[in-house]
Parts: sequence; structure tokens; C-alpha cells
Amino acid sequence: MNNMLKKSSFLKRLADFWFGPETTYEKEVYLSERRFWMREINMADIKELLTLEREVYAGLTPWTRSAFLLEIKSIALHRYLLLEKDEKPQAFIGLRIHGRDCHVTNIAVKPSLQGTGLGTFLLNEGKIFAKENNCQQMSLEVRVSNLGAQKLYRKFGFVARQIKKKYYDENGEDAVDMVYEFED
Ligand SMILES: CC(C)(COP(=O)(O)OP(=O)(O)OC[C@H]1O[C@@H](n2cnc3c(N)ncnc32)[C@H](O)[C@@H]1OP(=O)(O)O)[C@@H](O)C(=O)NCCC(=O)NCCS
Repeated sequence: MNNMLKKSSFLKRLADFWFGPETTYEKEVYLSERRFWMREINMADIKELLTLEREVYAGLTPWTRSAFLLEIKSIALHRYLLLEKDEKPQAFIGLRIHGRDCHVTNIAVKPSLQGTGLGTFLLNEGKIFAKENNCQQMSLEVRVSNLGAQKLYRKFGFVARQIKKKYYDENGEDAVDMVYEFED
């Protein structure tokens, strides 16, 4: 028995080292009459997140495996959350804190579930995280051509601050830099 315990605690420590510590922020979520499980992203999720990205971005993966890895293992204060169903990610958001700003690094929702409130829910989770960490605002960049996402951000409270010229390397597209300053 002792040996088994020792072995399982060793395996747990090994898993924590490799996959990151067990998630601390997780809950069941109901959105548009669908049930999801929300939890923090770990290394073992990256493969499925790349599959989700391909679905969202017509076969492309704007974030590579190493981009995800660098973010979820970053020493900067961050939260990477996914909504999953049947153990498959359906949507995710990435948040990184710099001082009083909580930056939305990434957000995507599976195409078949877009327009059902998952994006708004995840932004709200971002706002909770930002407030827990005494941030005064959230910020993000979005492609000038991505009018759908801009509509979501404006509805949530973001306003355009400036245009970042040729922000996206692969096609030289400009980004709209948006900020949501908290009033309370
Ligand atoms: C942008 C995105 C994250 C929004 O998530 P979502 O779950 O579809 O958004 P919601 O259902 O919460 O939408 C909330 C509001 O945003 C607006 N909106 C969101 N997506 C929209 C779209 N494609 N076109 C027009 N309006 C849109 C609507 O006003 C909507 O409210 P309404 O349904 O009452 O009109 C999602 O569409 C997505 O993954 N897109 C592809 C990836 C992407 O562009 N990521 C953002 C990179 S900066």
C-alpha cells in the first residue's frame, strides 16, 4: 500500500512537472442549453487546440504548438481557459497580465458554436481574472478585417484606441488596438 502511494505521488509530481499542476480553476457551465466543462489549459491540450484552430481558421494555425507552450508556461501572470464538451475543446481564451492591464492574447470558438454566447462568456471570465488581479483595464488587438470579433468586443465594452500598422506578419494586415477601461 505504502509503495503504491509513494508511486502515485511520484507519478503525480511527474505529471505536474510535465503537464503543469492540476487545474485549480474549473467549473461546469451551461450556455444556450448546452453543458460545458471549463478548466485551465495544460500541455496535453495543445494538440486538440491546434485542431480547433484549423477548424476556426480554414486549415491554418495562427498559433503554433510552441506559441501555446510559451504562453501556458510563461512566468507572467496568465490564465488560459477552455470550454470542453465530451473531452474536446470547443472554445478557448488566453489572458496575460502586465501591471494593471489584462491582455486578451487569443480567443476562438468552434464555428458550429459561434454566435451562441461562448465568446462573451469567456471574455467575462477574463474580466473576473483581471479584477481578481487588480487590473484597471483589458486590452487586445484584432484584425481590421475581423468585423465580427470587433462587434463582440464593442458590445462587451472595448473601444478602439489606435491602429497598429502592419501588425500581422504573414499578410501585413493592420490591427485595431482596443481597450476596455473598468469604471468600478
Ligand atoms: C469572435 C468570436 C470569438 C466570437 O465568439 P462568439 O461565441 O461567436 O460570440 P458571442 O456569441 O458571444 O457573440 C456576442 C456578440 O458579438 C457579436 N458577434 C460575434 N461574432 C460575430 C460575427 N461573426 N459577426 C457579427 N457579429 C458577431 C454579436 O453582436 C453578438 O451578439 P448577438 O448574437 O446578440 O448579435 C468567434 O466568432 C470566433 O472564434 N471567431 C473566429 C476567431 C476569431 O476571430 N477570434 C478573434 C481574434 S481577435
